[in-house]
Amino acid sequence: MGQYEKLKGRVAVVTGGAGGIGKEICKCLSNEGAQVIMADLSESSAANAIAEINSAYNKVIYHELDVVSEQSWHTLYQYVEQRFSRLDILVNNAGIYLFKDIENTTLDDWNRVMSINATGVFLGTKLAIPLLRQNGSGSIINMSSTSGITGSPFEVAYTASKGSVRLFTKSAALYTAKDNIRINSVHPATTDTSMVEVLWESNKDLKKTVTENVPLGRLADPIEIAKAILFLASDDSSYITGTELIVDGGMTAI
Ligand SMILES: NC(=O)c1ccc[n+]([C@@H]2O[C@H](COP(=O)([O-])OP(=O)(O)OC[C@H]3O[C@@H](n4cnc5c(N)ncnc54)[C@H](O)[C@@H]3O)[C@@H](O)[C@H]2O)c1
Repeated sequence: MGQYEKLKGRVAVVTGGAGGIGKEICKCLSNEGAQVIMADLSESSAANAIAEINSAYNKVIYHELDVVSEQSWHTLYQYVEQRFSRLDILVNNAGIYLFKDIENTTLDDWNRVMSINATGVFLGTKLAIPLLRQNGSGSIINMSSTSGITGSPFEVAYTASKGSVRLFTKSAALYTAKDNIRINSVHPATTDTSMVEVLWESNKDLKKTVTENVPLGRLADPIEIAKAILFLASDDSSYITGTELIVDGGMTAI
C-alpha cells in the first residue's frame, strides 16, 4: 500500500466515488499516487468517505457531479483543468440499482435508470476525450456488471443499462484507440455494498442463497473490484482496450 508509483503524477475522476465501491476505487488509485477527484451527487456521503480514506498520503478531494447533467460535467472538467491542468483517468462508476420486473417497471423508472447508468457514462466519456487527448494517453473505465452480460427477470432496466455500458465501451474504445485512449468495462457480480440492501430486505434467505451460488463461495469485497479498476487505470494494462473485465467469483462461468 502507498507505493506512490503506478499512478504518480496522474489525475483521476471517480464518479459515484462516495459509494461502497467508489470509495475503495478512490483509495486504491490514491494509494498509487494519483490525485483523485471524488465526483458524486452526495456531498455528505463524500465528506464521510473522505474522512475515512484520507491519510497522510491520500490525495482525494470532492467535487459535486450529477452524471445526468451535461452542464455538471462541464463544470467538473473546467475545475479539473484549472486546478490540475490535466486528466488521465476517468472511472464512470456512479450507478443506481432497480429490483423490478418488466411489468412493474414504469417509464419513469426506466428513464431514470438508463439516464444515470447509461447516459451518464456517455456524457462523461464524450466530454473527457478532449482532455485526455491533450496528454497523448488516457484510461476510461466504465462500470457495468454481470447484469450487463446475462439477463435477469427482476432487473429489466438495470440489465438494459449495464448491457448498454458494455457495448458503448467497445464502440468508444474503437474511436479513441488512435489517440491512445483506452476504454474498458468492468463487470462485478454482487458486491457487498448498501446498493444491494434492497435485495436482502426483499427476502431474508436471499443473501445466503446468492452467496452459496457464487463458485468462490462469497460475495465480492469492494476492494476486489477496485483492484481490477487499478489494473485498467495503470500502464499494466497498456495493450488492453475495448475489453470487458469480469470480476465475479466465477458466476458467469457456470
Ligand atoms: N454492489 C454491487 O453488487 C454491484 C455489482 C455490479 C456492479 N455494480 C455497480 O458498481 C457501481 C457502484 O455501486 P455501489 O455498490 O458502490 O453503489 P452505491 O450505491 O454504494 O454507490 C453509488 C454512488 O453513486 C452516486 N450517484 C448516484 N446517482 C448519481 C448521479 N446522478 N451523479 C453522481 N453520482 C451519483 C451515489 O451518491 C453513490 O455514492 C454502480 O454503477 C453499480 O451499478 C455494483
